[in-house]
Amino acid sequence: MTTGALLFYSAFDDPKEWRGHLVAALPDLDFRVHPEVGDPDEVRYALVWKPPHGFFASFRNLDLVINLGAGIDALAGRDDLPDVPIMRLSDPDMVQQMTAYVLAAVLRYARDFDVFERETRAHRWRYIHPRRLKDIRVGVLGLGELGRPAAEALAGLGFGVAGWSRTKKEVPGVTTMAGRDSLEVFLARCDIVVCLLPLTEETRGLMDATAFAAMPKGARFVNASRGAVIDEDALVAALVSGHLAAATLDAFAVEPLPEDHPLWRLDTVLVTPHLASIAGPAGAAGEIAANIRRLAKGEPLLHLADPRRGY
Ligand code: NDP
Ligand code: OXD
Repeated sequence: MTTGALLFYSAFDDPKEWRGHLVAALPDLDFRVHPEVGDPDEVRYALVWKPPHGFFASFRNLDLVINLGAGIDALAGRDDLPDVPIMRLSDPDMVQQMTAYVLAAVLRYARDFDVFERETRAHRWRYIHPRRLKDIRVGVLGLGELGRPAAEALAGLGFGVAGWSRTKKEVPGVTTMAGRDSLEVFLARCDIVVCLLPLTEETRGLMDATAFAAMPKGARFVNASRGAVIDEDALVAALVSGHLAAATLDAFAVEPLPEDHPLWRLDTVLVTPHLASIAGPAGAAGEIAANIRRLAKGEPLLHLADPRRGY
């Protein structure tokens, strides 16, 4: 059996690195980089990050679209998607990176480092009595491949952790809630909220003025998923009023965050440039190769996303 051709498209990722790892895993893979497509009828797999509209039209023999990342929001809902399985990436490296990002952001708040960073710059010695971690209530929105390990790691450190998802989950050491009706109750019990929800029609703008108002005064917010899950104007208002004490933000409605955006001007905000967890070929090539082999053998594929559900 020959593996067939894979077409790579990404404006952000290095095709040479991906070629090296994928061809090592599948030696007869014909790896092509857009726009050097060759015969489009030979393309059976498309490994893509945010391809332009109409991208898929000329590939009549596609068997698999592989989203070069975890969130498929740039693919879901578009009207030019071929009717083939959509695979998303979330390898152990990505899980570890996201867990580290969440732990760094939450521990910084738990030990008031954000306050001490400001006090240091003002040459002020200010004592804030440390809180017990078990008294700090952390809520994780989204208990999927990234949210669940983050919640487990936080619980492992001793935080009081709760998790929220669409369907009810059981996570040892974590209080869980599910469904839109429980969102405000969930948020009301959180000193720190971490958002790891996919962007879908249901989650777009979910964290709005009402949601921020439901959080206790002085709560802190971490978003490492997608900017459009947040109503950014409502977030700015909650921070300016002091209802929220601080926010760590990795994703924004418009990226890069525009120079004149009010979030840049708030000293209670930490901006990171969308790098909480990056899909890399060293971790992901094995998952992709395994699915291409499964496809050839007619076995069920792994790591599939559901474009109708949006994640
Ligand atoms: P998963 O698809 O594995 O998990 C998504 C979770 O969100 C599930 O628990 C799901 O519930 C829950 N969820 C979905 N819709 C709703 C809803 N309407 N109400 C409540 N809960 C909902 O995603 P991942 O954990 O792999 O990734 C999450 C997101 O993180 C990605 O979609 C992407 O946008 C973002 N991301 C950001 C990165 C960065 O660098 N900033 C890197 C990688 C990902 P249920 O369990 O019931 O299905
Ligand atoms: C992803 C991302 O979804 O990097 O993988 O945002």
